[in-house]
Amino acid sequence: MTKVYNIAIDGPAGAGKSTIARAAASKLNFVYVDTGAMYRAMALHFLRKGISPQDEAAISEAVKTADVTLAYENGVQQVILNGENVSGLIRSEEVGAMASATSVHLPVREKLVELQKGLAARENVIMDGRDIGTCVLPDADLKIYLTASSRVRAERRYLELKEKGQDCSLEEIEKDIIKRDHQDMNREHSPLKQAEDAVLLDSSEMSAREVIERILMLFEERKLEE
Ligand code: DC
Repeated sequence: MTKVYNIAIDGPAGAGKSTIARAAASKLNFVYVDTGAMYRAMALHFLRKGISPQDEAAISEAVKTADVTLAYENGVQQVILNGENVSGLIRSEEVGAMASATSVHLPVREKLVELQKGLAARENVIMDGRDIGTCVLPDADLKIYLTASSRVRAERRYLELKEKGQDCSLEEIEKDIIKRDHQDMNREHSPLKQAEDAVLLDSSEMSAREVIERILMLFEERKLEE
């Protein structure tokens, strides 16, 4: 069997994980797996059913009726929820907040982690999320923990929203980011934390290009060590 390579990238919301992971995957010709999109699709399913994020029993039941899969169109990940491509519906703050609140429940995590492990067993992947290095791919060939200060992350988000013509306040965005970090880092099951063997990269003072180059270099080094 040919060796399959796995790279794990974890970190808080807005650290630039998806931009970095997507670009590195394209350079390496690996499949990019955005696991946050899977939690978001699941969250959309709960929102459509009007379920409260605290209602564990209803969530456990609803998980059974959510079939979340990934497809690739010209190399771009698409998230399919019960046969519907929901990729364009999951990027709102509402869905993001619901994803963070509902990802605390074990049935949600178990279902998605199984799917993620299956993908990584078959293909060379760069997978990003919160628990990839610690839980989904404990034996990944390279683990990165990508972070940035909450202010820098808020500023990036603020500029993104401004570009889209949306009115927003930097203070509010930073408050939301801090709240989401707290929720993701303090939940009982697979909280966001740096794996012991992960390389810490702080993108506050690094350009996206520098981060990508560093990851590619680290990966080449790991391959040579084999
Ligand atoms: O990366 P994102 O903002 O799209 O993720 C949305 C939420 O999903 C995040 O706040 C927590 C949850 N999540 C998770 O619990 N585990 C992952 N591997 C990825 C995301």
